[in-house]
Amino acid sequence: MGLKPQGLVVWFTGLSGAGKTTLAQALQARLEAAGYATELLDGDAVREHLSKGLGFSREDRDTNVRRIGYVANLLAKHGVIVLVSAISPYRATREEVLAQAPRKLEVFVDAPLEVVARRDVKGLYARALRGEIPQFTGVSDPYEPPLHPDLHLRTDQETLPECLKRLEEALEPFGIRL
Ligand code: PPS
Ligand code: ADP
Ligand code: MG
Repeated sequence: MGLKPQGLVVWFTGLSGAGKTTLAQALQARLEAAGYATELLDGDAVREHLSKGLGFSREDRDTNVRRIGYVANLLAKHGVIVLVSAISPYRATREEVLAQAPRKLEVFVDAPLEVVARRDVKGLYARALRGEIPQFTGVSDPYEPPLHPDLHLRTDQETLPECLKRLEEALEPFGIRL
């Protein structure tokens, strides 16, 4: 029996509309094409299954992030490259779950509120700014940026291909070549 390949958790955190899902999906496609075993845990998808019924209070967000972290770390222990795309707004909770990962890369997907509100991919900011969605991250609920992310992507200043290139470079020290 050979040694298992070492897994990794790549954790994308940032405001709604910052680019977490877009980047995680694009990176997953590249990793899969190169033959790596991957899994994507996206906040929106997880909330339909594993976290069904949870809301957006601090307690519920922390429960959601801990569940995602738990599954991500289990998979990573078995050699999978796990991509997580969840707002995960609380620094201490992110640090807590990432401390359990066998190997981790924390990616801050960063764009100013005015930019993500202008993108308004799902029309949520328009509703949140009208006061129709309580506890909306960045509008009426906190977001605590990472103080020392492993990678800081400014999606308002760097194109998607540029961001992907920087992600690929950040994976190289883990022995992952794309
Ligand atoms: S968290 O904070 O990590 O538990 O959030 P997450 O599981 O990633 O879910 C975020 C997605 O839920 C939608 N949504 C909201 N986001 C923020 N605040 C409020 N109140 C809210 N209500 C619904 C939204 O589609 C988020 O997805 P992204 O991909 O970030 O836009
Ligand atoms: P999130 O999952 O963080 O809510 P999405 O990936 O759903 O964000 O939406 C991000 C939006 O921003 C998409 O419409 C995407 O095309 C756009 N975008 C522009 N520049 C970038 C970039 N450099 N990286 C990722 N997304 C970008
Ligand atoms: Mg998303």
